Amino acid sequence: MGHPANTPPAAEPIGLKVNGSVVRVAAPPATSLLLVLRNDLALNGPKYGCGLGECGACTVLIDGVAARSCVIPVRAAQGREITTLEGLGSRERPGPTQRAFIECQAAQCGYCLNGMIMTVEALLRRDPAPSEQALRSELHHNLCRCGTHVEIMQAALRAVQLRAEAAPRGCEGAGA
Ligand code: FES
Ligand code: FES
Repeated sequence: MGHPANTPPAAEPIGLKVNGSVVRVAAPPATSLLLVLRNDLALNGPKYGCGLGECGACTVLIDGVAARSCVIPVRAAQGREITTLEGLGSRERPGPTQRAFIECQAAQCGYCLNGMIMTVEALLRRDPAPSEQALRSELHHNLCRCGTHVEIMQAALRAVQLRAEAAPRGCEGAGA
């Protein structure tokens, strides 16, 4: 006998690699990655904004690329490297992109910021020295309803500087 049409889908064990750790969750495979990260793994860096892939609040990195976790089924994330805001640094030791946004105080309500930080981080991982125009177009589809765009751009530019300062400098200073 088949299941009634309104029977909720069964949870299945799913293995994920999140912020460098392998974890197992039990979730219906079509559940969004965002809900699993927040509800099962208590990773609240990615935010629920529109739930439609349009605002960017839920941005995480998947294999280093910015992705909107609200529209990605968790099964599609199996075997991929997932990085959330928590994976960039801690409150005590924020990563360069996080530090830039803190320094520039680029927030009003702050709801959009984690997605902005992840989007900038993704760009800097593939291009450590992007132009202002490249930063602008990367952030173009991340929405900020508070209109904090000027400060967010300042923070993005500062992130480029801080990342350059944090980068290994080859042989410079070695053996002195
Ligand atoms: S919550 Fe995912 S894009 Fe808006
Ligand atoms: S600071 Fe409020 S949505 Fe961007």
